[in-house]
Amino acid sequence: MNIKDRFNKYDRSGMLENILSLPDHIREAWKMSGDFILPRPSGPNPLVICGMGGSAIGAFLIRDLIKRECDFPVQVERGYLLPPHVGSDATVICISYSGNTEEVLKLFGDAAERGCNTGVITSGGELAGEAAKRNVSMMKVREGLPPRAAIGLLFTTLLHLMVNWGVYEITGEELNLLTERIELVIKKLTPESNARDNPAFELSKKLCDKMPVIYAGDGLLEGISYRWKCQFNENSKIAAYSNIFPELVHNEVMGWECSEEIMKNLFFIFLTDSDDHPGVRKRMDAAYSMLAKSTGEAVMIGSSWYGNDSPGRLERLLSMLALGDFISLYLAVGRGVDPTPVGKIEKIKKFLKIGEL
Ligand code: PA5
Repeated sequence: MNIKDRFNKYDRSGMLENILSLPDHIREAWKMSGDFILPRPSGPNPLVICGMGGSAIGAFLIRDLIKRECDFPVQVERGYLLPPHVGSDATVICISYSGNTEEVLKLFGDAAERGCNTGVITSGGELAGEAAKRNVSMMKVREGLPPRAAIGLLFTTLLHLMVNWGVYEITGEELNLLTERIELVIKKLTPESNARDNPAFELSKKLCDKMPVIYAGDGLLEGISYRWKCQFNENSKIAAYSNIFPELVHNEVMGWECSEEIMKNLFFIFLTDSDDHPGVRKRMDAAYSMLAKSTGEAVMIGSSWYGNDSPGRLERLLSMLALGDFISLYLAVGRGVDPTPVGKIEKIKKFLKIGEL
């Protein structure tokens, strides 16, 4: 069966369409989010972004985009409670695409009770109701997407806020041009593009029956490596794992002394970026050379993989996002699974509500 037939057969809920919509979602959210206004944290007061799963990814990406320059701490909370140091001077943004995620509703209540400067990004649900009741700043994004496919909407809302705060510089016009370049990147990844020149399709074939282990430095691509892992889990329905340099050379490398049988089933993907710290890069090169002597396969992918001479940080981030999304999608239809449904995630949410699986 050719790849287009596979999409017709297995991508029954239209994940391809959603992933292709990334540039549109970015433009749409940029237009709508100018009024999403919150006080800018300063000094030791943090920006705390709360969200679970697919709704937390935009938070990680924005953190990675600004973390080397911004003058306030940025932290992402994924749990039930805010840390004790988050006080009324903190700015807390609660993101839940559905608006019904228990942990985020609790964090929202906690932030509001502490008197934090609180904002909400959601498509509706209980969170939208609570935000309206408490009259907090809210960005309502369009409904009907799987949360992980709303990344363009959720991330761009945060990006716009960072631009309004003067933490990141980009004009609406520049963002439009950037989305056009991302469209060109996406074109290289679609099922229509020549399969042999399509890096997403090619890598997906190598990942068949393997467990991807995705590594990145602790810079621009930290959240991206986690996004790839989650997309392999949710779209491709396979086990995957991610970790970060330099920390992993202080422990994880020893795990490569496991049996050859186990190593043989792992496929290591190193994501590199031109801004990786030189020490990180040296460690990545050393680790990569070590792996070449093992039975585990490995590839290294740079964030300028698509050949543009010197893309900016945001462009590198978004093109790596698109690449990972497409690899997970090809792997899904290659394995004969529908990328969209997340049955086990929903089952556990239901269990929490009604007490049975
Ligand atoms: O990808 C998913 O469906 C999940 O990771 C959800 O994002 C997660 O369960 C949280 O739900 P929501 O994004 O609606 O808050």
